[in-house]
Amino acid sequence: MKGIILHGGHGTRLRPLTHTGPKQLLPIANKPMSQYALDDLKTAGITEIGIIVGDVYPEKVKEYYGNGSKFGVQITYIYQDSPKGISHAIRLCKDFIDNDKFIVYLGDNVLRKNLVEYTKKFETSDSDAMILLCEVNEPQRFGIAELDSDNPDKIKKIIEKPKNSVSTLAVLGIYFLTPKIFDIIDNLKPSWRGELEITDALDMLLNDGNKIKYDIVTGWWKDTGTPEDIIHANKLVLDSLGTENQFLIDDDSKIKDNIVVGKNTEISRDSIVIGPVIIGKNCKIGPSARIGPYASIGNNCTLKNCNIEDSIVMNDCKIDSKINLSNSIIAHGSEIEDNPKKQFLLGERSQLRI
Ligand code: TTP
Repeated sequence: MKGIILHGGHGTRLRPLTHTGPKQLLPIANKPMSQYALDDLKTAGITEIGIIVGDVYPEKVKEYYGNGSKFGVQITYIYQDSPKGISHAIRLCKDFIDNDKFIVYLGDNVLRKNLVEYTKKFETSDSDAMILLCEVNEPQRFGIAELDSDNPDKIKKIIEKPKNSVSTLAVLGIYFLTPKIFDIIDNLKPSWRGELEITDALDMLLNDGNKIKYDIVTGWWKDTGTPEDIIHANKLVLDSLGTENQFLIDDDSKIKDNIVVGKNTEISRDSIVIGPVIIGKNCKIGPSARIGPYASIGNNCTLKNCNIEDSIVMNDCKIDSKINLSNSIIAHGSEIEDNPKKQFLLGERSQLRI
């Protein structure tokens, strides 16, 4: 089986963070969100991986993942000139997939449970596709699957963001597919938003009499389209620190209870770190800093006098201020310091609430 990671799209809901890179490289607990997908595929035994890159800094994706050898996989890059839809991106992979079964993983989805069991199920089944479903509170925000009321093993319909839905089962951004999907996509029409939708392709697959298996996921699943989603995903991943099933962390880091600290990071005696927290390499924390709970601090950060909780601070940031940061995302190389004149230098579409 092969794997596909979708790394295209414009990530408009995450601007300004996506003005300087693709959203899937934004860190959650100090790891790019698409690396959760890559690690999941690898853990399920899938090492031949195609990454769809779009028109938002594709070179940054290649620079990070390279040919995949650092991550124990082989990567092929496939270009999508503009975000014409998930089905459009999948169709571009036809030559790469050839006759194999495959898994498509949206690079902005994070799943608590790994894919080992689901992959085995699909590999040994005769289904034409398999999808994963999860109960949600706001079905109008997701692709939704409606089960057959007479035979709940069967999916009746798959609909994109329904206004009035009888079902609350969202379709996750992880699809188990066979090459049958390519012919289906060739006959798809763009939706009202001009995209070739994956939900339409799956629904057409069903209507053509094909078998789609499903599984309901246990544990959480997060689709990280907005800043709030990213902060929530960060919290969910940090909650796994120090547990038996924690997400993979850097080999160089030290972990004590639910606090992870990278190499060469110094924490002053008068500073407090309240887990779950992850702090990268070469950071200077203190004097008088209070970090956590639920903070992810990148590499090479200097944090003085500040309180940071429920937040993400990326690499190379300097904060020297009696500021309380919560529910915040501070991108690479940002600086915050006290100044009686309150002076700001903010990039396009910055958001400041003081
Ligand atoms: P979306 O979240 O639907 O789209 P987006 O990433 O462009 O974000 P926004 O709506 O804020 O502008 O995309 C879901 C995933 O699929 C995401 O990982 C990006 C990826 N994708 C592609 O690779 N190609 C595409 O054509 C589309 C639409 C999405």
